[in-house]
Amino acid sequence: MEAVPTSPTTPKSPTHAVLFLATISIAVLFVTVTLLATLTINPGSQTAHSHLVHTTGPAPAQGDSTQPPNPEVNAAEVAEAVDLAQIRFIDYMNGELDADNDKIFGGSLQDLPDGYFNLTDTWNTVNTYSNSLVNDVEYDRKNFGLLVRRARSLFIAYRVLNEMADDEFDALAQVTDDDAAAAATGNHQKSVERRNNRTSALKQQLETAVTAQTETLYSWINPPFESLAAMNGFFKSAKDSIGIALTGGSKHYYLMMHQILSLREEFNISLPIHIFYAGPEDMNATCVDTFNAMENVQAVDLLQIFPNQTKLQDRGYSMKPFAILAAPFKTVLFIDADALFFKSPLHALESRAFKETGHLFFHDRFLREESGMRGPDFFNDVHKHLSRYGQTIGFPNAKTRKRAETHELDSGFLVLNKSNTGVLFSLLLASKMNSMPFEKDVLYGHTHGDKESFWFASEMLRVPYQFNSPYGGAIGTLRKMEGKNTGTAVVCSGVLSDRYVTTDFGNHFAEFTHVALDFDGVGTKWFDFFPGGGCVKRPSRHVMELSAEHQALMERYRQRFLHSVKDPVTAV
Ligand SMILES: *[C@@H]1O[C@H](CO)[C@@H](O)[C@H](O)[C@H]1NC(C)=O
Ligand SMILES: *[C@@H]1O[C@H](CO)[C@@H](O)[C@H](O)[C@H]1NC(C)=O
Ligand SMILES: *[C@@H]1O[C@H](CO)[C@@H](O)[C@H](O)[C@H]1NC(C)=O
Ligand SMILES: *[C@@H]1O[C@H](CO)[C@@H](O)[C@H](O)[C@H]1NC(C)=O
Ligand SMILES: *[C@@H]1O[C@H](CO)[C@@H](O)[C@H](O)[C@H]1NC(C)=O
Ligand SMILES: *[C@@H]1O[C@H](CO)[C@@H](O)[C@H](O)[C@H]1NC(C)=O
Repeated sequence: MEAVPTSPTTPKSPTHAVLFLATISIAVLFVTVTLLATLTINPGSQTAHSHLVHTTGPAPAQGDSTQPPNPEVNAAEVAEAVDLAQIRFIDYMNGELDADNDKIFGGSLQDLPDGYFNLTDTWNTVNTYSNSLVNDVEYDRKNFGLLVRRARSLFIAYRVLNEMADDEFDALAQVTDDDAAAAATGNHQKSVERRNNRTSALKQQLETAVTAQTETLYSWINPPFESLAAMNGFFKSAKDSIGIALTGGSKHYYLMMHQILSLREEFNISLPIHIFYAGPEDMNATCVDTFNAMENVQAVDLLQIFPNQTKLQDRGYSMKPFAILAAPFKTVLFIDADALFFKSPLHALESRAFKETGHLFFHDRFLREESGMRGPDFFNDVHKHLSRYGQTIGFPNAKTRKRAETHELDSGFLVLNKSNTGVLFSLLLASKMNSMPFEKDVLYGHTHGDKESFWFASEMLRVPYQFNSPYGGAIGTLRKMEGKNTGTAVVCSGVLSDRYVTTDFGNHFAEFTHVALDFDGVGTKWFDFFPGGGCVKRPSRHVMELSAEHQALMERYRQRFLHSVKDPVTAV
C-alpha cells in the first residue's frame, strides 16, 4: 500500500508502513537517537607555499610523492588518480586533516601512504581534471564511474568557489597550475595578464567550470533555477524551514489523505505539505482540488518542474528524489503515503544523525539475498574508496562478510536539510541516478528502485551521512514456532489484509498484537512473503507484545480511515 510500491522479488510492502513504525519507534523509544595533473605540475611554484603542505606524520623522503611525467599513463590510471585526489580533497575540505578521530567520516587523509598530504599536488590533479571537462560535455551516461567523477568535480569546484575562506582560496590560487587557468580561458595572452592576479583567474576559471559542468550534468535544474548557486541560495533562505513531501496519484488519494490527517490530528503537525504527482493522468483534477482546498497543502505536478527527467514508470520510484528536490523547503521530510508513525516524525530532527550530517537515513529490513550480489558488485566497481563510515555498512561488504545485507536503505522516510550544500549536491546526484532515460536503467538494473541511490550519492560524493542504526522490524501477529525453532519468535505482518485495495482501508486493517524489533540483524530471517507482507524470525527477546497505547494508536489510524477520510470533491 505504498504510494511507490515494490516488486515481488524484494517484497517490502505495506509492511513497510509497519517496519517503519518499528523503525521509528526504535529510533525514538528505545535507542537514544542515537590527469593529468601528475603530468602538468609546475614545479617552480610550490615550495614557496609550505603552508599548503600538510603533514599528519613525518615528511616523506624527498621526491616520493611526485611521479615523473609519463605520457604512457593510460586513461584508467588517470581516472584512478583523479578519483583518489578528489576523495582526498573533499575529505580535506570537510576538515578532516586535523580532526579528532571520532569526527572523521571519510578517513582518506588518515590512510595516506606516508602520512603526508600534499595539498598542492592533490588540488592540481583535481583542478586539471575539472578543466578538461569544460569542453568535454558528452559522456557515456550509463557509466556511473564517469558520472560520479564528474559529479565530484563539480561539487569540488562549487565548494572551492563558494564556500572556501578567502585566505585559503587565495593560497590555493597561488599554487594552481597555470596551464589549467589558461585552458579555462582558452586565451593565452589574456591568461598571462591574469597571472598578476591569480585569485581572480582561479575564480573565473571555476565559474566557467561550474557553469559548464552544471549544463552537462544537471541542466534540468533550469528552470526553475538559473544556476546551482541560485538553487543553493533559494534553499538556504527558503521561507519554510521545514516541510513535508509526499508522492502519489489518484489511486493513492485515500492513503495520502489519511497521512495528512494523521500528521495534523495525531501529531499536531501544521507544517506545509506538498504532494507531488506525475501529470493529470496520475492525479485527476478532483483530487488536486481537494488537496489544494486544505490548509497548507499543495498538490504539485512534478512533470511541470522536471518534464524530461522523471516519469511515472516503475511505479514512480524515480519521482522521489525529484520531489524532494522540488519541495521548496530548507529541510524536507519525505514520507511514503502509507507510512504510519508511532511517534511524531519530527523527532527525526532531533536525531544525532540529522544534527551532525543534515540527513537521516533508515535501514531497510535486514535482508540478504545470496542471488542479490549485483548491487554490491556494481557499487564496489564504481566506488573504490569507501569512507570510513561506509566500511561499517553491510552492503558494500556483502561479498566478504557472509551475513551482510544486500538491501540497505528504506526510502519510505527520508529527512534532508537542503540548505547544507553537501546534502543538496548529494540529492542532485541521487536524482541524476534516477534520471530518464539512461541512468535510471543502470541503477534499477542493479539495485531495487530508487532506494540505494540516496546513500550511494552521499558515499560517492564524500558527503557525511548516517543511518539510524536499527533495521526495519515488523508489527503484526505472533506465529508460534515449535521443535528446533523454539526460542525463535516469528511475527508476520502486513498492514492490510488485502494488499491491492485502494479504498476502504479501515475495513482491511490487519491485526496487530506483536512487534519484532531488529537492532542488529543478528538472527534475523525474513520468509513467507505474501503480497504486502512477510514474516520475520527474531530471537524471542526482540519480540514483544504491542503496548496498549500503541494498539490504541493503530486503532485510531483505522478509525481515521473509516470516518475521517472523505471522498474527493470538485472545487466550486
Ligand atoms: C607536492 O607536490 C608538488 C607537485 O607534485 C611537488 O612539486 C612538491 O615537491 C610536493 N611537496 C612536497 C613537500 O613533497
Ligand atoms: C586579486 O584581485 C582581487 C580583486 O580584483 C583583490 O581583492 C585581490 O587582493 C587580488 N589578489 C592578489 C593576490 O593580487
Ligand atoms: C479521481 O480520483 C478519485 C480518487 O481515486 C476518485 O474517487 C474519483 O472518482 C476520480 N475522479 C474522476 C473524475 O476520475
Ligand atoms: C498544536 O500546535 C500549535 C502550534 O502549531 C500549538 O499552538 C498547540 O498548542 C498545539 N496543540 C497541542 C495539543 O499540542
Ligand atoms: C523534453 O521532451 C520533450 C518531448 O520529448 C521535448 O520536446 C523537449 O524539447 C524536451 N525538453 C528538454 C529541455 O529537453
Ligand atoms: C541545515 O543546515 C544549515 C547549513 O548547514 C544549518 O545552518 C541549519 O541549522 C540546518 N537546519 C537544521 C534544521 O538542522
